Amino acid sequence: MSSKNIDVTILESLNHLLSNHPHLLPAVYDMVHTQLGLPKDQLRWLTGQNRIPLVDIHQFDYDRQLGVEHDIRSKYQYDGDLAQIYANNKGCLVHKWHHYIPLYDRYFSAYRGKPIRFLEIGVSGGGSLQMWRKYFGEQAIIYGIDLNPECAKVNGIAGQVRIGSQTDTEFLASVVAEMGGVDIVLDDGSHHMDHIPVTLKALFPAVSVGGLYLIEDLHTAYWDTFGGGYRAPTNFFSNTLQDLVDDMHHWYHIDGQKLPEVSSFCPAIHVHDSIVVLEKQPLQRPSRSIIA
Ligand SMILES: C[S@@+](CC[C@H](N)C(=O)[O-])C[C@H]1O[C@@H](n2cnc3c(N)ncnc32)[C@H](O)[C@@H]1O
Repeated sequence: MSSKNIDVTILESLNHLLSNHPHLLPAVYDMVHTQLGLPKDQLRWLTGQNRIPLVDIHQFDYDRQLGVEHDIRSKYQYDGDLAQIYANNKGCLVHKWHHYIPLYDRYFSAYRGKPIRFLEIGVSGGGSLQMWRKYFGEQAIIYGIDLNPECAKVNGIAGQVRIGSQTDTEFLASVVAEMGGVDIVLDDGSHHMDHIPVTLKALFPAVSVGGLYLIEDLHTAYWDTFGGGYRAPTNFFSNTLQDLVDDMHHWYHIDGQKLPEVSSFCPAIHVHDSIVVLEKQPLQRPSRSIIA
């Protein structure tokens, strides 16, 4: 059955049902897809479901009685102190997915106690800057940028805050210049598919060799409210990440590099649930030998 044949009242009823019970969304999609033959992505478009998250966010709740720190430690067998730093954050609001904490520590621990230059895109309540200050120490140069002028009120508490957009390349360059360069960038900003590559292309060249560039909350790549969608051409994973992987292997095909400003200095990309980590190092032409 094509979408044209579906009675609009059925769609309205489904829309109403999902408005009150968003957790039923995957089941309803599945039912409509398998039984009515309607592509899942069209249902959302037809029913105007863009207002409702594609997945029910409450399924990711943790056991509040056991607490945040317990959840992080027990799920990920994590024994570092970042779980305690995060869970005991006071004052300024911080919002992180629990599985990010061990990942941050895996990639950032070598930089602790050093005068590293750390830039987080997306300040919000300022709690993450507080967390980074406690984690990296007093020597770290910590900056956050945010589009929202309200974020200026947390300027100077744990780090420097500058107001501007992650798509404004002149603004980004001015912040990096003020920082005296940058060793780690963490993109926790708009999470919009149109913005992430713009920021990456502007900031990755500025990252020092040996540094890191992280993009988080990439589950948004699957949500059309962020310009993404499952296997959508705009999805970060099927678009920019695919280009970077192809570029990394450009020695072995004839299609050239799509993003040389990034890929010429990116020999390793780590993909985790919702986080991508790019290592900044020159991409070396591979050599081979046969040794008898
Ligand atoms: C997820 S919140 C950041 C959370 C914070 N890093 C934390 O861990 O608690 C995203 C922030 O990005 C900001 N933002 C949205 N679009 C932006 C843009 N184009 N440029 C810079 N910041 C943006 C929002 O104002 C918001 O404060």
